[in-house]
Amino acid sequence: MSENHDHHNQRGLLAFLGSMAFVFFFFFYIVFVNKGVTLDEKVSDPAPADAVKFDLASVKEPWIENADVAKVGQKLYAQNCALCHGVKGDLVGGLPNARNLVEGKWKAGEGLINHYKVLQNGLPGTQMASFKATLKPNERWAVLNYINTITNNKSKDTAEDIAKFASSAD
Ligand code: HEC
Repeated sequence: MSENHDHHNQRGLLAFLGSMAFVFFFFFYIVFVNKGVTLDEKVSDPAPADAVKFDLASVKEPWIENADVAKVGQKLYAQNCALCHGVKGDLVGGLPNARNLVEGKWKAGEGLINHYKVLQNGLPGTQMASFKATLKPNERWAVLNYINTITNNKSKDTAEDIAKFASSAD
């Protein structure tokens, strides 16, 4: 009976060693031998010649509705504002006491000029800080350009008024 038992154990040990050896060689194969599929194959392809990179600095009036500017603004928004105002500007996933930029009345004044002033000076006494040192003026306009595409309370400031304001705004 006990001999029988040992016999089983021996086979179990062999099976165990065998599977360990398999695992070891399989690991070795995967890590050192197998080239596998590189997921970045496509990424390293040269960009097509007609894919011109958009340069925000080339836009003279970045407050005017413009899909390319808004796209840059969206990226800057994600990096600088989403943490508090929510990824979509509606406070979802954001800071409860920040402002919903999509709905509700503007508390610090409506329109792009007022929003720009918020980014210049922040709102003292709140967590809304100045972005003067973080974002260049045209980057701040780009963020606001984007916000104007997601808000239900769009700016009524005329391009002329904004241009006048922007020429003296730092
Ligand atoms: C650390 C959190 C935080 C970050 C980051 C932040 N904000 Fe704010 N923001 C706030 C808070 C809080 C308020 C509301 C202050 C108050 O009125 O009580 C506010 C208010 C505002 C307002 C005024 C809204 C209104 O009703 O008039 C604007 C516009 C605004 N933020 C835009 C931005 C933009 C654009 C960015 C990114 C460049 C940004 N915020 C980044 C916290 C933040």
